[in-house]
Amino acid sequence: MCGIVGYVGGQQAAPLLLEGLTRLEHRGYDSAGVAVLSGSGIRVAKRQGRVRDLADRLPRRFGGKVGIGHTRWATHGSASDTNAHPHTDASGDVAVVHNGIIDNAAELRQRLTDDGVDLVSDTDTEVIAHLVARSDGDTLEARVSDALAEIDGTYGLAVVHASFPDRIVVARNGSPLIIGVGEREMHVASDLAALVRYTTTVAHLDDGEMATVTASGFTTYKQDLTSSTHKGTTTIDVDPDAYDAAPPDPWGHESYMHKEIREQPDAAERVLRGRLDERFGTAHLGGLNMDARETRAIRRVKVLGCGSAYYVGQMGAGLVEELARIPADAEAASEFRYRNPIIEPDTLYVAVSQSGETIDTLLAVQEIRRKGGRVIGLVNVVGSAIARECDGGIYLHAGPEVAVASTKALTNMYLGFALLALQLGRVRDLSIADGKRLIAGLTRLPDQIGEILAGEDALAGIATRVAEAESLFFVGRVRGFPVAREGAQKFKEISYRHAEAYQTSELKHGPLALISPDVPTVAVVPHDELTDRNVAALHEIAARGGPLVVATHEDVDLSGLDGVVRIDVPRNEVELDPILLTLPLQLLAYHAARHLGHDIDKPRNLAKSVTVE
Ligand code: F6R
Repeated sequence: MCGIVGYVGGQQAAPLLLEGLTRLEHRGYDSAGVAVLSGSGIRVAKRQGRVRDLADRLPRRFGGKVGIGHTRWATHGSASDTNAHPHTDASGDVAVVHNGIIDNAAELRQRLTDDGVDLVSDTDTEVIAHLVARSDGDTLEARVSDALAEIDGTYGLAVVHASFPDRIVVARNGSPLIIGVGEREMHVASDLAALVRYTTTVAHLDDGEMATVTASGFTTYKQDLTSSTHKGTTTIDVDPDAYDAAPPDPWGHESYMHKEIREQPDAAERVLRGRLDERFGTAHLGGLNMDARETRAIRRVKVLGCGSAYYVGQMGAGLVEELARIPADAEAASEFRYRNPIIEPDTLYVAVSQSGETIDTLLAVQEIRRKGGRVIGLVNVVGSAIARECDGGIYLHAGPEVAVASTKALTNMYLGFALLALQLGRVRDLSIADGKRLIAGLTRLPDQIGEILAGEDALAGIATRVAEAESLFFVGRVRGFPVAREGAQKFKEISYRHAEAYQTSELKHGPLALISPDVPTVAVVPHDELTDRNVAALHEIAARGGPLVVATHEDVDLSGLDGVVRIDVPRNEVELDPILLTLPLQLLAYHAARHLGHDIDKPRNLAKSVTVE
């Protein structure tokens, strides 16, 4: 997590660094800082709070054409001015910004303290500055390499040194680091968002790589300096405007989350474009890199993702199992590799990630590949670590997602699964008629998403009522259960209310004890083969005084349930219902959080792109 920026060129670095940090703030926002190199050495400004607090209080004379900056999500040490990055050595000649976690930080801190070094922060990063300063290498590269040789852990880092004022040295091990090539100037960032205003020509560092970045170019080499790695650049196809701040919404409130919710009809159309084959009732997914014979040989599908990507993975596994009749399930990627999983050659592993940088998912992919398994990625960010690590995949084309709470990427993940299920199904027993039926359903989806979004006013009204509850249940069955999980996730992460997801069928086995007039239940009740069972459970909740909000279809009969609030979504094919039922729950969470006055795009304690384990 955390964001890194760096600049070396002909312009003043500080304003560029601050601008870049603003664009990375979704990665961590408890403190921020910059260091610039000038003729008189390194100057550092850092403070707890947002980038704008730092910008407001930046010393007037803060000139320099080389610099690094950081926006932090605390791992070691609380959010404070002192723990903010950049960190320096005692002389102030070295400044370091770092993403990741140094596993042997305690041991290194002890060693440095025993040697008389006065550590001023509680962070793991500070040790890097001291290790670089203590190295007797002739070059900054040698000094950074020496320091890294002592470190166990993950890092993306950038280092400047007063004695080597023309350069930034960067390194990567498990945490992204991108170099942006400009006209006689170079940029460094942990995320494309900070670069795209200036350049779309980039080079991604790989794990174990270092680079020297000067105004005239960059060179890459192995971290032990034994050889050059001759890295080329790629031009990324992105629209820089897509990273701009959200326009004010009809409620006069600015937020990326709202913008991203509203973008879903267009985003959904993009992920489907050119991939539906109506003639054969199937999908074309060239990026999977599998021919029909290999596709047929798959005996099991295992989906891996974290947080919302895991929940949509559960929806996706259901879809694959239902359409392709291949056993499929989803598992939290963060747990997967710690149980020494059995990797089977005829299982297709699917890694799901918006950012493509989530370290837990990336490590799961690496574990599978190390054991010889085949992994494909459902990833939004093109060229990201997970996308590069996989054997093939489906890009999601949702466009940049900035709000911490994932919305449009999640919808496109679901659609990515629908495409995958179609392709897997059609080389098996899914009939051409069913394939065509689903394609027709998918084609209707973008407009239906628009229809749901058009009901936002009513949803905002419902949200303000449920927002008053300290605790809520979200319930659903089978296809509806992951919808409930995702609904609860979205609600808790931005409203800070306790929202617990349960299978509707399991309520009577325990949690029903918690139902009361103070605990609303948001129930997912599609028109499907389980409607009657679901409605019976609603009556059990109502009989105990539990208020009910029900995401459902118009033709589901909820009569006899006093005070029930219904949210009707348009019907599609039953297999595609989950995504349409998910949409109102996004708006419910958004408006509850807005009603409670929370910072919607930057919820407390969280960050986008979780690049620490
Ligand atoms: C929730 C949310 C997170 C992410 C999770 C995985 O709204 O955004 O739970 O889904 O951290 O992130 P990615 O998809 O980038 O791997």
